Amino acid sequence: MLSSENPASGSGDQGSGHGMWSSRMAFILAATGSAVGLGNIWRFPYVTAENGGGAFVLIYLVCILAIGLPLLMSEILVGRAGRHSPINSLRLLAERSQRTWRWMFVGVLGALIGWMILSFYSMVAGWTLAYGWHYLGEIFASSTEALDPQGKFEGLLASPGALIFWLTAFVSLSVGVVALGVEKGLERAVRILMPMLFALLLLMVGYGIASGFFQQTISYLFTPDFSKVDGGTILEAMGQAFFSLSLGMTGIMAYGAYVPRNVNIGRTAGVIALADTGVAVLAGMAIFPIVFAHGLSTGEGPGLIFVTLPYAFNDMAFGTLFGFAFFLLLAVAAWTSAISLMEPAVAYLSETKRFTRVSASITVGVATWVLALGSVFSMNIWSEYTFAGRNFQELIEYISSNLLLPLGGLATGVFVGWALSRVIAREQLSELSDTQYQVWRFLLRYVGPVLVFVVFLSAAGVI
Ligand code: PHE
Repeated sequence: MLSSENPASGSGDQGSGHGMWSSRMAFILAATGSAVGLGNIWRFPYVTAENGGGAFVLIYLVCILAIGLPLLMSEILVGRAGRHSPINSLRLLAERSQRTWRWMFVGVLGALIGWMILSFYSMVAGWTLAYGWHYLGEIFASSTEALDPQGKFEGLLASPGALIFWLTAFVSLSVGVVALGVEKGLERAVRILMPMLFALLLLMVGYGIASGFFQQTISYLFTPDFSKVDGGTILEAMGQAFFSLSLGMTGIMAYGAYVPRNVNIGRTAGVIALADTGVAVLAGMAIFPIVFAHGLSTGEGPGLIFVTLPYAFNDMAFGTLFGFAFFLLLAVAAWTSAISLMEPAVAYLSETKRFTRVSASITVGVATWVLALGSVFSMNIWSEYTFAGRNFQELIEYISSNLLLPLGGLATGVFVGWALSRVIAREQLSELSDTQYQVWRFLLRYVGPVLVFVVFLSAAGVI
């Protein structure tokens, strides 16, 4: 997908000396691969459930449109205009706009957020590998006995050894791709396996419709009850919007550096946001009918899909096969996201003289693995240690997703909206009409920053 021998790819970027996506489609696939992952299928349903459904979903959708889409365009724009790792692109563009080079710290923050997210993300991706492995075994087992969903999940979490094993497997897979750059494999994974995941989700939605609890699901997901909303809910919804679109940590910016000149940024960002939101909503419509049909609690937390889905696979014809396919495809989706979580740090390190791409990937992988141990242990031997009611894993997830992603996004938005030269921005978005461009600029300069600021204040209880 990235062809380094052919830096310009007919894009008019001769001399950038930089790899390039082979086509607009290749970039859409990579960015969608980054966006669609555990955030849509694991995190969206459980955070929705913890925040009472309908109103949360509505606020989430508003955040995607009003803050997410303009920022998605901004990250692609900065990447393409800078053509370096996010840290260096920000520095270069700031200098070109006669601003301070210190804007590069937005990139440093992004790389750090990526590291934090990747730690717990890899642990959860490890859970999906463990489940995939379990169902694979069931397919070949001579006598299958129905899985005890609650027991299976609790058993997995109670075992640091098993968690570390699957964590290590997942981190190694991610380091492998980032280090060796098997872009062809990545492209194929996204092009073939993602539509399969999509189809499987559709099938499960069909199963949900047949279960008789679909009506209840739709009203749960889409009937807003604003009495359940407070500052904390809005913060969660905004954090989820950033998380799901991979925004605020410069991952999309890193991918943007390889976007050919002739790509229409606005339209491309729209396609990515639509695909991402579609998968999240489908996941909700697939999972909640099962929750209701089995009288399970919506307050299950991060274990929601791991506990509920096995109930459905237990009941379905060919359930073990579907279970295997589902968790395998989910692991692939997580994998294509993990790569983008690593890319900002790896891209920066490989631009310095001291690292090659391989040693940079391994370094980031090891650092991730070490931090992830904290998440692993907070599932068992450290579960007693909490701060403000949150264990280590919950704390890292909360700080990185709900606080730092919006903060990083805010900083990126302020950079593009206020500091970056208008000539550069307009040139990158040349396909937009003047009105479209003004709307984008207004959302970016005023709406996004004000919303993020107000949400922070209200979550902190100031207003
Ligand atoms: N968007 C990814 C998902 O939904 C996770 C992610 C977050 C990836 C932030 C990159 C940056 O699973």
